[in-house]
Amino acid sequence: MKVSVIGTGYVGLVTGTCLAETGNDVLCIDIDENKVQKMTQGEVPIYEPHLDVLFHRNINANRLHFSTSLDEGLEHGDIIFLALPTPEDEDGSADLSYVLGAAKEIGKLIKDYKVIVDKSTVPVGTSEKVREAISNETNVDFDVVSNPEFLREGFAVDDFLKPERIVIGSNSEKATALMEKLYKPFVRSGNPIITMDEKSAELTKYAANAFLATKITFMNEIANFCEIVGADVDKVRAGMGTDSRIGKRFLFPGIGYGGSCFPKDVKALHKSGKDAGYEFDILNAVIKVNDLQKKVLIPRIDAYFNNDIKDKTFAIWGLAFKPETDDIREAPALYIIEELLNRGAKVKVFDPEAMPNVKRKFGNDLTFASNMYEALESADALIVCTEWSIFRTPDFDRLRAGLNSPTIFDGRNLYDLKEMEKEGFYYSSIGRKT
Ligand code: UGA
Repeated sequence: MKVSVIGTGYVGLVTGTCLAETGNDVLCIDIDENKVQKMTQGEVPIYEPHLDVLFHRNINANRLHFSTSLDEGLEHGDIIFLALPTPEDEDGSADLSYVLGAAKEIGKLIKDYKVIVDKSTVPVGTSEKVREAISNETNVDFDVVSNPEFLREGFAVDDFLKPERIVIGSNSEKATALMEKLYKPFVRSGNPIITMDEKSAELTKYAANAFLATKITFMNEIANFCEIVGADVDKVRAGMGTDSRIGKRFLFPGIGYGGSCFPKDVKALHKSGKDAGYEFDILNAVIKVNDLQKKVLIPRIDAYFNNDIKDKTFAIWGLAFKPETDDIREAPALYIIEELLNRGAKVKVFDPEAMPNVKRKFGNDLTFASNMYEALESADALIVCTEWSIFRTPDFDRLRAGLNSPTIFDGRNLYDLKEMEKEGFYYSSIGRKT
């Protein structure tokens, strides 16, 4: 099939590349000339595991192309994916100007029947607005489909190739049939393609993300309470998670959820509710608790150093909002760094992938170490912010040798309490005994 993808962010690029992998002829469009030129020369603009292999394979097979011309995109694809940003507006709602702007342009350029697919995470009712924006400009026949993505950063390629489900929201049989044909190769293992109306599809995405954010936040509150009453959240988690109604995943407490999706989507769903006269009390609480959780280590660090961390040095392991990505959007590490710098502390950081992004944000305010052990040299404590695999089994002798004193604040519960005691560390983690 011939497919065009408008927008080559992580969703657009993964979508385009993976659709090329099953033999489709894919043209990816982006307004950024520099980016398009680099991609044409074979440069992958983002870090996403396994993407580079597929990207190069499909460029070499002549199935994956790039252009800055929306006109060309419309000419090429029978199915046109919109994978454009929907940033958070000042009031928490999703800013639809990119999506609706593209829809208007499509309306001006469309010459024959196309299926226009909303891939971006957009509030309920957006498909209708996209349809309106296009039909204001043209009489040509087209359909709009809501097809939300459920890709996790760091696993986006795997998630696309082996999805647990595909959601297709459309009121057109013709468009639904085309979409089912496109996705059929990805659900051979028997996972379902769930078809529904557009609004339900749009809401499915928000409901899924807000539910997962709520699940994490609930566990973070249980963890906070465990500390007060002297329980161990790891044990509570194991005890709860074996109930198949609850499930083991997304029960890991930590220093809050971050990234480009959960924070934005929870706020956007809350705002959509408000706009429709409905108050999502539960989401209010999730937003509030998560904001506090990002800084949950700070009062303990203050207390440990008798409220005087001026001129103390802290090593931070992990800057990305989660492992296997260089994405630092809403990353808890950034909030911790800001609090430490505000108190006059010095901060030395290491992350396997995210340091260039943090350098752009903080510049010379931080020291960037070339490896995890270098970050420890002369530091008064280590703070773990992201659970990269490399941090899970460190050489504790090197840790002790590097740090001024054997002190660890662990926002991701990477280490065993007994082992830390045996190794002689002061060890503070989330929801477990210190
Ligand atoms: C999330 C969803 O998982 C995807 O299904 C969805 O498609 C995507 O948002 C999106 O809307 O585009 P992502 O933000 O990449 O994916 O990352 P997750 O792996 O879901 O993690 C989100 C945050 O939750 C991270 O900060 C992570 O550290 C935190 N988390 C996750 C926990 O604190 N505890 C857990 O048990 C799990």
